[in-house]
Amino acid sequence: MSGVTDLSRKIEKQLPGELVGFMRLAGGMVQGKGQQLCLVGGVVRDLLLGRENFDIDIVLEGDAIDLARELSDLKPGKITTHPRFGTAKLQWDHWSVDLTTARAETYAWPGALPTVRPAAIRDDLFRRDFTINAMAIELNSGRYGRLFDVYGGQNDLKQKHVRVLHEKSFIDDATRIWRGLRYEQRLGFRLEPTTLRWLKRDIACLDTVSGDRIRCELELVLQEAYPEKILNRARELGVLSRLHPALQGDRGLAEKFEQARRMRLPGLSLIGLYLALLAYFLTREENERLISYLRLCKSAARTLRDTIDLKARLKSLDDPGLTPSRVYVLLHGYSTSAVAANFLAGDSPVACRYLDLFLKELCYAKPTFGGEDLKKLGVSPGPRLKEILDRLLEAKLDGQAITKQDEKDLVRRWLGGEYSGGDA
Ligand code: CTP
Repeated sequence: MSGVTDLSRKIEKQLPGELVGFMRLAGGMVQGKGQQLCLVGGVVRDLLLGRENFDIDIVLEGDAIDLARELSDLKPGKITTHPRFGTAKLQWDHWSVDLTTARAETYAWPGALPTVRPAAIRDDLFRRDFTINAMAIELNSGRYGRLFDVYGGQNDLKQKHVRVLHEKSFIDDATRIWRGLRYEQRLGFRLEPTTLRWLKRDIACLDTVSGDRIRCELELVLQEAYPEKILNRARELGVLSRLHPALQGDRGLAEKFEQARRMRLPGLSLIGLYLALLAYFLTREENERLISYLRLCKSAARTLRDTIDLKARLKSLDDPGLTPSRVYVLLHGYSTSAVAANFLAGDSPVACRYLDLFLKELCYAKPTFGGEDLKKLGVSPGPRLKEILDRLLEAKLDGQAITKQDEKDLVRRWLGGEYSGGDA
């Protein structure tokens, strides 16, 4: 068996038994039908690297939807099909597997979505981004576990190289520029020198890709364990400034991302915070352009707008004599990520202390004495009730009311003659 890499033992060792059983089942089903069935993409790369990855992508030289239907009879669960793309997803218990009809792709113009046609596995692998993602493992019973590596992926894994399969790869699909940086930094690899040359040559092709697709890539970057490494490399290569020319990448970004990970505030979106830190030094207008280019969703756009807004108002927090209730009034209503971004990136130590206090304590403050208690004291629902609740919160924040009884006493005092004597 010289020249054949048998990965069946690696598969058994690294993948959960349920998925291994499924692949063997599928391999048995296609056996004798003259169809080749393969495990492909990131999971093959990660099997060879010994990294955990249970994202099972299976490609069939034949109709993947038919096969998925046959399999779903044996594995009751959910089946979702996309006949236009020849793909199916099977889900059962907490497992999920993607099955795709092997296809070749052609691009009508740079950045266009590809035109696809059914093809052989070899062509399906050739349409992929990098050699390390263009390997397959055969699943047909007779050949189960054999590595199919026609483009040198295994060698590139050994060399720690991220290499495209052909010279036009980044022109066809410039999102691969971001993908390349992501794999390079995630795996501790380097872009292979010719690939790096082509990447630099084709950076302008990023402008041929829709903002939506770039946003998806940026989200994937921000979901990585150390996004700052990818953003830094993107800055070095002039890729980051394609998101927005003013995004030069602050040298302190890595440190701020590190601190962001340590914050662990309940309800805080780390990705939102990373994005806010990345955009922190933009002006209001630049920020708006970034939001519309990336077509950010409402909540991400709000985080960025809040961040820049609050940055402009930080001066009002640069006063050591502020009471906690004043700090609350100034910060209440801003998204948590925006407050956190200003805490990490703002340059006034006094303001930062208040931002920290707000994030750790003030934002959770709530009077124990509530609307229902006030109603029992005879306060009718309406602006007066709201005003009393606000004053109670203020008193609580400033330490003038600690227990529920303190709050009740205060309310009674404020109500004075209005107090009807109800027992709250
Ligand atoms: N792919 C590609 N070009 C793209 C996107 C994807 O060639 N622009 C191919 C790659 O071969 C990739 C596969 O489609 O391996 C699946 O894409 P995705 O799920 O994004 O990649 P994974 O390798 O699974 O990535 P990750 O490890 O980040 O999950």
